[in-house]
Parts: sequence; C-alpha cells; structure tokens
Amino acid sequence: MPTPKVFLTRRWPTEVEHYLSQRYDVTVNEHDTPPDAQVLKAALRSYDAVCPTVTDKLPAEVLQAGTRVKVLGNYGVGVSHIDVQACKRLGIVVTNTPDVLTDATAEIAVMLMLMAARRAGEGERQVRGNQWDGWAPTRLIGANVTGRTLGLIGFGRIGQATAQKAHHGFGMRILYHSRNRATPEVEALTGGTYCQSLDELLETSDFVSLHCPGGAANRHLLDAKRLDRMKRSACLINTARGEVVDEAALAEALRNRVIAGAGLDVYEHEPRVPEAFLGLENVVLLPHLGSATLETRVAMGMRVAENLERFFAGLEPRDRVA
Ligand code: DGY
Repeated sequence: MPTPKVFLTRRWPTEVEHYLSQRYDVTVNEHDTPPDAQVLKAALRSYDAVCPTVTDKLPAEVLQAGTRVKVLGNYGVGVSHIDVQACKRLGIVVTNTPDVLTDATAEIAVMLMLMAARRAGEGERQVRGNQWDGWAPTRLIGANVTGRTLGLIGFGRIGQATAQKAHHGFGMRILYHSRNRATPEVEALTGGTYCQSLDELLETSDFVSLHCPGGAANRHLLDAKRLDRMKRSACLINTARGEVVDEAALAEALRNRVIAGAGLDVYEHEPRVPEAFLGLENVVLLPHLGSATLETRVAMGMRVAENLERFFAGLEPRDRVA
C-alpha cells in the first residue's frame, strides 16, 4: 500500500508533526490560519486523511468534494464543526480526541468560576490601567466559591472532572443535569446529585457550568427565558461551545444584572467576540484556552496519530465518532 497522504489544517506541536511525518506523506498548513472551503475541498480531493480542528467548518456541501479522503482525524473532542451525519452517508470515518484534554478543560472551568466570583478580570484591569488606589473594605467585593452550589449541564468526562475538582477542592455541592443519570460510582466520586429538571438546576445553583455538546441540538439552550430562571447572584460558565448560549440574551442579562456574572472561554462565531461583552465588567472573556497546555496539545496530536494508525492498519480506530 502506498504511504497515505495526510493533511493537517493547522500547525501542531513539533514533536507530533515529526512523529506523523516519519509515518505518512504529511502536508502541514504552514500559514496556520483556518483554511477556507476551497482549500478544504481541495484537501478532501487530494489526501487520504484530513486532520481538522474546531476552527475548520466542514458542512455537507464541503464534504461532498471528498473524492479521496477516507478519514477525518479531528484534533479535539468536540465535532460540531463537522457534519457527522454527512460523513456517515459519504463513508468518511471521523475520529476525535477524548480523555486527554479533560483535566485541562476542567481547570479552565474552575478558573473561570473563581475569576467571575472574585472579580479577578476587573481587578486586573484596574491594576494595569493604573486605577487601583489601594485596599479598601468595600471595593471589588465578590462572592465565595467554597461551599456554594455548582450546577452542571452535561455530565460527560469534562463535566465530571469539573465536579470532582469543585467538590473536593472547594467543598461545593454538585447538581447535574444530563440525558442519562450517571452511575452510583461516578456520583460518589464527583459528589454529583442528578437533577432531572433543568429549570430546577438553574433556579438553585450559584454557578451554572456548561459541559454539553454544541451543534444544532443544543443551540441557544441557555436563552433569555432560561437565564431569567437563574439566581440574580449566580454566574454562568461556558467552556463547551459558544452556540449553547444566546450571546445577545446573555449580554442583556449581564447588563441588567439578571445574573451577577459570567466566565466564557468559547463564542458562537469564533474568533469574533460580541461587541456587547467588551464593555461589561462582569464577564470574564478568555480566548478558547480549554485544552491549551503543551502536554495536552501533544497528547491530542498523539491520539490523532493512534487513530490514524489503527485506521490505516484496517482496525477500528479507538475514538471513532462516525
Ligand atoms: C475541543 O477539543 O473540542 C476543544 O474545544 C478544542 O480545544
């Protein structure tokens, strides 16, 4: 069999690029900017494996160009940028990279919770802007995280890891809402209590953290009506996907103090961050840092490599999603 041709849509950590180059005929997008539809179509026509990531949109219309591609080795766990149903129809295998980014992403969720509760972004802006005039008993007063209630929407790997860190690290009470109830073992490990009603979770949590998949099914799950159900003292945390929240409704809710604050790592139309957030002090805005540690990014690349190796050896890839 000739050496498979592999296309990486972005630069990957050097050691992973090197590892793949020793095994395949690899082309890397040296520009390291998201390829447009034309570039993606050309890649799907010319390579056996295309390895996209969250920045690359692969709707059915683009995927149909795939006369040569056999496998999409996605660099990341979320696949809502890929039309997975179209891949199934077209016989294109899709794999992702679960597990290896769980802790890194859960760390960001916990960090956003702390930053939003303790007004850390606002405080840092004061220091950098030379506007801090010293300690005072009544300024920049936030809220304790310790002992408060954290409500998780979605309770997969990252939701569970966030729960575990919050419960054991900060003694938080954990509620979760998800399609299926977790096993008693998982509930014991995470301190999680199943909450069948999403409204009840929203009404009783001090922090609501999103850990469900993106895509059409969960688009604007948190809309104006649901934000209105949250406590006025509560903060919303999103490390999942931007489209899960109606951003215009969230900006309104933050401006009118319907909720106290938010911590966001993801946005519906990245890298565009809605203008309405930029002037608000009570929202922490991060640039999609969830998996951004070196060990995690290397592990993600090696997980793609493992999936490709199994695929090209005629075996079932470990992380097949389509
Ligand atoms: C993922 O893996 O889906 C992340 O959002 C990319 O870091």
